[in-house]
Amino acid sequence: MNSLETLQDELEGVEAKGLASLYRRSMLLTSEWSRAQLDSLCWLAETFEKLDRAGVATTLFPDELHLAVFFDSSTRTKSSWAGAASRLGARPLVIDGSTTQVSHGETAEETGAMLGMNAHALGVRHDLILDQGNRFMRGALTGIEQYLEELGSDRVVPLVNLQCDIDHPTQTLADLCWLREKFPHGLQGKTVAVSWAYSPSYAKPLSVPQGLITLLTRYGADIRLAHPPGYRLRVETMELADRFAGESGGSFEVVSSMDEAFRDADVVYPKSWGPYDLMLERVDASQGGDQSALADLEYQALERNAEHQDWICDERRMGLTHEGEALYMHCLPADIGAEVSPGVMRHYRHAVAREANKKLYVIMALLAGAKQRRLRQRLHELVQGVGREGA
Ligand code: CP
Repeated sequence: MNSLETLQDELEGVEAKGLASLYRRSMLLTSEWSRAQLDSLCWLAETFEKLDRAGVATTLFPDELHLAVFFDSSTRTKSSWAGAASRLGARPLVIDGSTTQVSHGETAEETGAMLGMNAHALGVRHDLILDQGNRFMRGALTGIEQYLEELGSDRVVPLVNLQCDIDHPTQTLADLCWLREKFPHGLQGKTVAVSWAYSPSYAKPLSVPQGLITLLTRYGADIRLAHPPGYRLRVETMELADRFAGESGGSFEVVSSMDEAFRDADVVYPKSWGPYDLMLERVDASQGGDQSALADLEYQALERNAEHQDWICDERRMGLTHEGEALYMHCLPADIGAEVSPGVMRHYRHAVAREANKKLYVIMALLAGAKQRRLRQRLHELVQGVGREGA
């Protein structure tokens, strides 16, 4: 049986996977989605990957505009958004948030309404300032929905969080899809070390570790979070991770060293983030538009990071992991020589590229799941269409 025939078989049983529950669903935080919805989303992302690799066109949304606004730098997520929109037949447009009227005080609601009336899907990255990014996304979504409701339009314009101050859903869902491929029997009983690592480049957002501990605990994994003093995550996020671990039969613990986190781990995810107190101080400096205070806080954060240069994922630490062969993961870009040794990165370069590639299919799944009411039937038609052409 070839991969498309297998896919057709899978599609017969897909109703139970709850594709319908994804319809009209925006993605703001993975913690707001049910486990069943997350499973359906992963299945859909995996299906789009198979279709793409089999050369099947998936032009579900011709002539649409899929707009993404980035208030921070990006390589992977920007190109994944563009790649996803193109594969779905839509035109992608990625704009720099600092060039919008948000910089002159336009509200999130006004911005959302305006972008929503012109586009058919909206992605937003707004990750640098605590308590602002996710709030902005919710405001923008309210603006879109109110506009469409007042218009009496049933057009669906989903919003996708492309990284905020709390979560990075397209990243952690890509990570989850990669883990599903590497551990097809699931994460129950698997130990995942999510560890802080040294970075001299910039004070990185907290969203990836926060997103990981609140997603992987849904799947029964044993999560060990490690960081130096002063690098804690949001209390609400820690409490959620604890609750999810209890519900899934997994576990969540905080340890004080990278060695302790890595010991016998099946998966390691060492990456940097900023010191919590300084990330909090950024909020006031940002609200006051005080660029010199922001620059000073960044300098202080990097000085603080430099006190922990020994927090590196190197060959010795990988040797502590399960049979010395844990799966190394990173959202990328990694600071090579700081977060991870050149040798470890070289060894896992293909693995992290595969991990990163999953994001494109996750975004396709988020957009198609939210926008296509008859998705199962449309997927059938796409696969059968190829069968007919090949006959
Ligand atoms: N991992 C990630 O989000 O990468 P970018 O910042 O390049 O989008």
